[in-house]
Amino acid sequence: MNLAGKKIVLAVTGSIAAYKTPQLVRLLIKAGAEVRVITTAAAESFVSPLALATVSKHPVLNSVSEGAAWNNHVELGLWADAMLVAPCSANTLAKLANGLCDNLLCAVYLSARCPIFIAPAMDEDMWLHATTRNNIGKLRSYGNHLLAVGYGELASGLTGEGRMAEPEEIVQQLDVFFNQKNVLKGVKALVTAGPTYERIDPVRFIGNFSSGKMGIALAETLADLGADVTLVCGPSNFSTQHPNVKTIHVISAAEMYDACINTFPQTEIAILAAAVADYRPVEMAPEKIKKTGETLDILLTKTNDILASLGKMKKEGQILTGFALETNNELEHALQKLHNKNADMIVMNSLKDEGAGFGFDTNKITIIDNNGHTDTLPLQSKAEAARAIVNHILELRHVETV
Ligand code: CTP
Repeated sequence: MNLAGKKIVLAVTGSIAAYKTPQLVRLLIKAGAEVRVITTAAAESFVSPLALATVSKHPVLNSVSEGAAWNNHVELGLWADAMLVAPCSANTLAKLANGLCDNLLCAVYLSARCPIFIAPAMDEDMWLHATTRNNIGKLRSYGNHLLAVGYGELASGLTGEGRMAEPEEIVQQLDVFFNQKNVLKGVKALVTAGPTYERIDPVRFIGNFSSGKMGIALAETLADLGADVTLVCGPSNFSTQHPNVKTIHVISAAEMYDACINTFPQTEIAILAAAVADYRPVEMAPEKIKKTGETLDILLTKTNDILASLGKMKKEGQILTGFALETNNELEHALQKLHNKNADMIVMNSLKDEGAGFGFDTNKITIIDNNGHTDTLPLQSKAEAARAIVNHILELRHVETV
């Protein structure tokens, strides 16, 4: 079992499925894991802390302080190899998605540096509500692993989606996770993400709508598999705290180019997901440009093509993946990019597909590799798309797929 010796923080929230958690603890321990349980106040209406303390062989923690003592949530977050929130009620899901911190569980979640698994449990209407959908999307975009809910009889008496995954399935998913975890151990990877900003004058720039989410999801997926990832990220509201990811923040295409040229020789896997500006102003005005004329001409010059440059530098054993965002003749253009830039793989998305492209939490991609394989995938979360892309790279490396 891959769970042998693993330290798991199990966080239990107020849902009827909490009655299954003593069994979940038992299974985790049977698989060799060490388990510490924390609960919310609402959880204790559904499952007895005594039962959880007995099966986990450790006191159950439910508050940031106990008497005069402080339960060190930072320490607990650092201790764990994985945190599992099961069952995760709609309320806790919303809190975690929005960074609220009014109990021990939220504090541990916010301090944890380990992978986080969330097993939602709620009634179908709550599960399907737009707010919940949004929260799930947010949690995924932060790199959390959302476990699929089951279909069946719910506490409301209705039948539908929203049941917590069964304890056996949860343990199995964790086991699979730890099995894959080291597939890329010791492998260095480079990922680019986000837009670039090309300065016009001290206050203005030419940019684009890329959010950086796809690149960040890729960096986290590689890091989860043990790779040491350098993420070269343009201006983005999103970031990652993954301990295996080192982020180099850049603004312009030229800065991104320099960071990539320096990093690439040491890496085995490079995925260029950034939306790099193709042109930049020939020169940046030293002072703010005043609106004197009716029109304004800004002369632009081409930026260095990072993907093509890395394609030229590429040595045997390095796998280079680019992206192609197209609006027409998608496949043809993507194939041209694959060949012209000497990439091993191109991930194509079309702006014509709803839910794909800039800003969304989802993406619809087609993976094209230089062995002539084309794989068109359905609309899925960016985290799932990242997993599919990394799987394809693993196949190209002839490593067992995850
Ligand atoms: N790219 C890059 N450096 C650039 C421009 C693009 O590394 N200066 C990379 C992107 O990160 C992406 C791939 O090239 O992986 C495709 O980018 P795209 O802009 O779609 O392709 P272009 O070659 O610029 O072609 P066009 O804009 O004509 O479609």
